[in-house]
Amino acid sequence: MEHYVERDIEKVLLSKEEIEKRVMELGEQISQDYQGKDFIAVGILRGSVVFFSDLMRCVKIPMEIDFMAVSSYGQGSSSTGSVQIKYDMQEDIRGKHLLIIEDIIDSGWTLHNLTKLLQGRQPASIEMCCLLNKQDRREVEVPVKYIGFDIPDEFVVGYGLDYAAKYRNYESVGILKRSVYE
Ligand code: IMP
Ligand code: MG
Repeated sequence: MEHYVERDIEKVLLSKEEIEKRVMELGEQISQDYQGKDFIAVGILRGSVVFFSDLMRCVKIPMEIDFMAVSSYGQGSSSTGSVQIKYDMQEDIRGKHLLIIEDIIDSGWTLHNLTKLLQGRQPASIEMCCLLNKQDRREVEVPVKYIGFDIPDEFVVGYGLDYAAKYRNYESVGILKRSVYE
């Protein structure tokens, strides 16, 4: 059967093998850093699901998992920032060490606003883990502790990331052909 997703990809940026290797390294680092701690990782829906499901299986210490869905509206006007919770996690994070799992950090507003909001729930600590980092696009400083790959300012899809809700199921991270959106 023809690979209908692959034919829309201009260039593979990160192969399945490269991603697998890096995710294993992140899992090892996280296992060391959170050893002996009350540890919960929260994946941000929907972009992080593929990354998160691979990453959690590379973590060799006890952990809880949960999910959130949010939409971010940039800087906003309110002092708490502008992030809307579409779906909230079910677990109580008070006193726990929280690691937020995201697919990509771009302007930084989503994670900036989200961490500010979650501080209010009084976790013991908050750190972030992003598969991809577009440093050139940053508008607000965000201290992301775990980064999979730094990538150039290109629109990418696959391994959970979408364009118009599609391509999340593509196994690598790739740059879309212009013809797809032009
Ligand atoms: P920001 O850091 O608040 O600008 O937003 C990050 C969000 O934008 C991510 O969670 C993605 O949903 C989306 N995003 C940014 N760049 C890309 C991309 O290249 N491909 C797919 N989604 C992206
Ligand atoms: Mg997202």
